[in-house]
Amino acid sequence: GWVASYLHQYQGFWHTTRQIQGVLSCQKYFKSSSLNDKDIILVSTPKSGTTWLKAIIFSLVNRSTFPDTKQNHPLLTTNPHVLVPFLELNLFLPSKSKLVIPDLISSSIPSNNNDSNPSLFSTHLPYVSLPDSIKTSPCKLVYLCRNPKDVFISLWHFTNRLRPQNLAKNTMEESFEKFCNGVSLYGPFWDHSLGYWEVSLECPEKVLFLNYDKIKKEPFLHVKKLAEFLGFPFSLEEEANGDVARILELCSFDNLSNLVVNKSGRLSSGEENKTFFRRGEVGDWINYMTPEMAERLDSLVEKKLHGSGLEF
Ligand code: A3P
Repeated sequence: GWVASYLHQYQGFWHTTRQIQGVLSCQKYFKSSSLNDKDIILVSTPKSGTTWLKAIIFSLVNRSTFPDTKQNHPLLTTNPHVLVPFLELNLFLPSKSKLVIPDLISSSIPSNNNDSNPSLFSTHLPYVSLPDSIKTSPCKLVYLCRNPKDVFISLWHFTNRLRPQNLAKNTMEESFEKFCNGVSLYGPFWDHSLGYWEVSLECPEKVLFLNYDKIKKEPFLHVKKLAEFLGFPFSLEEEANGDVARILELCSFDNLSNLVVNKSGRLSSGEENKTFFRRGEVGDWINYMTPEMAERLDSLVEKKLHGSGLEF
């Protein structure tokens, strides 16, 4: 898991020791042959709503196989992180007790040869660290970010929930100082988003740039856009049928967080399923941050993004 307290910088971004092993083996062993042109990779900064978007993308692209969202739908019994595994945190994370054996790693990648549905992968890797196979493949990337104040608060809760009980919690002040210095999981936060923002401007057919806050505000609009981008547009008939609404309902915070599978259970990477569901709202930072902290982070991020056209 992500419990380690020491972060190391690799290619300009901060990772735990264990994560770096996954990043390196992913870069080394994720070959073009593991990817089909139609495959989809969800990229996000941690705590920007990855779990939610995994659920949405899964139900979108598999809706002809699983049209009924109330019965026999995989999301009713399976955590979204199992349906859409992380490359460097699940598929390519060498087992703690074993040496890295390339053949073993590559054989654990789901094969997708005669499947008409695309394979779905996810990653928190910054653009500079993406394996070349992904950059050069026609596969699509969906990037998800979120306003930095909510990301910080969500991350602070998350890392404290993962900390062993006998260790002292990270204080907000200490974590905030680090976050502002760019030292957070897969941080600097702003560089992560900027990397994908630039590619999305250059190659809009390769990268769709999404923001949690905007999806929250206009879910229908963004889910329809996403479906179109991925090559699974909703027909007028489907829309009239309420298919978009049904997917949104299935993937809503209330619904997903109340499913038995998400209240109990643990991922193979160690985290409890329930740690991925907390409030699921925009603006919860106001309940934790002082006005001074908010102002400092806002102006820092504004400076970092200046001239890029990206805003939160
Ligand atoms: P909060 O801590 O602000 O509640 P990630 O999935 O990238 O780890 O992000 C987790 C954040 O997304 C948490 O934010 C979590 O509550 C929120 N989240 C999880 N499922 C969601 C859903 N179905 N709809 C909206 N937000 C969701």
